[in-house]
Amino acid sequence: MRVKYTESVAGREFRPYVGPMNAEHQRACASDEWRTTVREQIVPWVLDGVDLGDDVVELGPGYGPTTDSLRGLVARLTAVEIDPELARALATRPNGSNVTVAEGDATRLEFEDGRFSGATCFSMLHHIPSRAQQDRLFAEARRVLVPDVIFVASDSVDRPDLRTFHEGDTFVPIDPEELPRRLSEAGFVDVLVDRNEFAWKARARKGVDI
Ligand SMILES: C[S@@+](CC[C@H](N)C(=O)[O-])C[C@H]1O[C@@H](n2cnc3c(N)ncnc32)[C@H](O)[C@@H]1O
Repeated sequence: MRVKYTESVAGREFRPYVGPMNAEHQRACASDEWRTTVREQIVPWVLDGVDLGDDVVELGPGYGPTTDSLRGLVARLTAVEIDPELARALATRPNGSNVTVAEGDATRLEFEDGRFSGATCFSMLHHIPSRAQQDRLFAEARRVLVPDVIFVASDSVDRPDLRTFHEGDTFVPIDPEELPRRLSEAGFVDVLVDRNEFAWKARARKGVDI
């Protein structure tokens, strides 16, 4: 089901929106509470000890909370968002001079091989509607990386309350136990996966093609 949504939340007017997130989900992703959680908890946890280099691609920026955290950490950030409205909104708000927003599909990236020094993917993989497409995203993330650099990803773990929260939109959660195998099959090496009660994080190295 696709959802139309117009409302003012925290003083921000949402334009009519048709997309893969339900109304409650949009509200949460755009909230100041989520922005704070991203900035203070998720991004520091996921990027702890990770060097993404100076030319990074972010897959699935949504309303931009992760973009805002990342743009202060890297020299150049390219954010790839599939939803045209969200991509437009993100591109037209103040992002600083080091962010480029591209409307596009992270499972079919329109960048040349070896373009980026790092890749990130925060809280978006469960929006990819099939396991095969998720695996394709992993392969695409690897393809656009320079050899020997890092891809990081993080997402929620499957919980009954999250399934309810995603009613009417896409929810294909990833089992973190399967990530070492899935990322290895996508060609990554040195895969590390960690989790807590709410979320998992993974980092993987592109390795060097022989
Ligand atoms: C839940 S939001 C997360 C946004 C942000 N990373 C955060 O942590 O708040 C997931 C975003 O991924 C986007 N998305 C879903 N599938 C995508 C795809 N194939 N390519 C690019 N973006 C995608 C959705 O439109 C949505 O904006």
